[in-house]
Amino acid sequence: MKNILHRLIALWAVLMVPMFVSAQSPGTHLFWEDTIGRLVLIIAALVLLSALVSVNRLFSAVRKMEQRRILQEQGIEPADEPDESWWQRFVKAATQAVPVSQEQDVVLEHEYDGIRELDNRLPPWWLWMFYASIIFGVLYYLVLHVFAAAPSLEEEYEKNMETAQAAVAAYKATQADNVDENNVVALLDAESINHGKDIFAANCVPCHGSMGEGNTIGPNLTDEYWLHGGSIGNIFGTISNGVIEKGMQSWKEMLRPVEIQQVSSYILSLQGTNPPNAKAPQGELWKPESTENSATPPADSTATGDMGDQKSANENADKASDE
Ligand code: HEC
Repeated sequence: MKNILHRLIALWAVLMVPMFVSAQSPGTHLFWEDTIGRLVLIIAALVLLSALVSVNRLFSAVRKMEQRRILQEQGIEPADEPDESWWQRFVKAATQAVPVSQEQDVVLEHEYDGIRELDNRLPPWWLWMFYASIIFGVLYYLVLHVFAAAPSLEEEYEKNMETAQAAVAAYKATQADNVDENNVVALLDAESINHGKDIFAANCVPCHGSMGEGNTIGPNLTDEYWLHGGSIGNIFGTISNGVIEKGMQSWKEMLRPVEIQQVSSYILSLQGTNPPNAKAPQGELWKPESTENSATPPADSTATGDMGDQKSANENADKASDE
């Protein structure tokens, strides 16, 4: 009768295998990633198992009654089996521990400093796990390496990285963060300038002064003299990469590109504001693009908005001087 249970469990296991494999077949969404699918599977497994256990109980009850009947027919009074709970029987089977009263049966001959050894059997619970891990290993090898029915760890890793990269790209696309020092343009709208002002106030004031006037550490950002160039691209580059050896840190790890664009635009909006206590000019007078325009009056604060558009401004100036 015990065989029936074994057969049923084996049948159940065999039925489960194609379920796993088909669930993991390439191209489909990984079944195990799906929490609901997982729950359904676990519940189905529990229901099946408890059905098997009840069937087994029924069979063993029938078997006991049958045995009793046969014994009674033979005129033998059936001895009552000691009633152990299923848990007690399970622990017994899983440990096969020798009761202390019978230890003398398994004690080995040798003795060291009064310490003796018992020749116990390997605990079956441990052996079961050992066998299960061997079976798992074989199945794992077959499924992943022979039939390639499921993605390998490496493939899963790559797939995850691809998904993550796609997510990053999607996020970046929504953040308009694809500006760099080569394609950046000065933002002129009040909202962007205000964002830039907030970023400046939060990060830059200690070294450049609250109005960009400069102090003992950092240069004046409101005049037309620049150490590293005064175009929007130059400023973006200086902020992004920093001038580490001179004490200007790189901000590209701390500020998003669009934020650097905003703060650069804010700095350009400070041109010609002449704040009090302004630091003396450092670097070179920044002449937008062309060198012929030395006669062009210095940019005033209203002209700063055109900094991103210097080229066309210069071309217009050239045309004007040609005429
Ligand atoms: C720890 C001090 C410090 C902080 C904070 C700092 N800077 Fe600077 N910054 C400097 C120094 C020093 C220089 C001059 C570098 C040189 O001499 O080459 C500089 C240079 C610059 C320049 C180039 C100026 C030129 O003349 O070319 C810009 C633009 C600039 N900083 C913007 C910023 C912005 C925007 C922030 C905030 C996000 C910031 N800085 C934060 C110290 C700092």
